[in-house]
Amino acid sequence: MELLFSASKIAEKVETLGLQISKEYQSKDLYILVILKGSFMFASDLVRNINVPFQIDFIRISTYGNKDMPNAKPSITLDQIIDIKGKDVLVIDDILDTGNTLFAFKELLGFKNPNSVKLCTLLDKSCRREVNVSPDYWGFKINDGFVVGYGLDYAEKYRGLPQIYVLNEDEIRQR
Ligand code: IMP
Ligand code: MG
Repeated sequence: MELLFSASKIAEKVETLGLQISKEYQSKDLYILVILKGSFMFASDLVRNINVPFQIDFIRISTYGNKDMPNAKPSITLDQIIDIKGKDVLVIDDILDTGNTLFAFKELLGFKNPNSVKLCTLLDKSCRREVNVSPDYWGFKINDGFVVGYGLDYAEKYRGLPQIYVLNEDEIRQR
């Protein structure tokens, strides 16, 4: 695998993002919604750079159909306990790839009457986008290629690496 972003480069970017978010949510009712598992490391670093009050919650999204049926909409179940009515929701995810997951999720959140919903992803692989969705806040735009580390996995491996790497062709059996 090849190094893509060093720990210090990530830290620098996360600090900038935190400041930007803090500025824009100064007089809002910020509700941070972290998508597990991939964004756990990014989110925990990011919130330490956010200096306005916020609520935080964590959710796991199950996406089905992407592999076998590329055109199928992901089926998402949303935890009933989440109460975001009137809140300014900031969804934090690791990477925006085809966009199918967050596109469907954003639509679902809309039914719960939040004041606003914005997306923050550490990585944006916009060349792979299949639906009309883009992050409001992002760390790095990247080219195609499978990335791991800093929370991101390949078959549940590499999540603990402090830096972000691109896997080589021979390291990827199938996606
Ligand atoms: P999307 O619905 O295609 O945007 O899928 C997004 C999800 O796929 C992300 O939240 C990741 O969990 C996973 N994913 C997409 N690309 C990568 C990658 O390069 N490395 C690790 N996970 C990825
Ligand atoms: Mg994910």
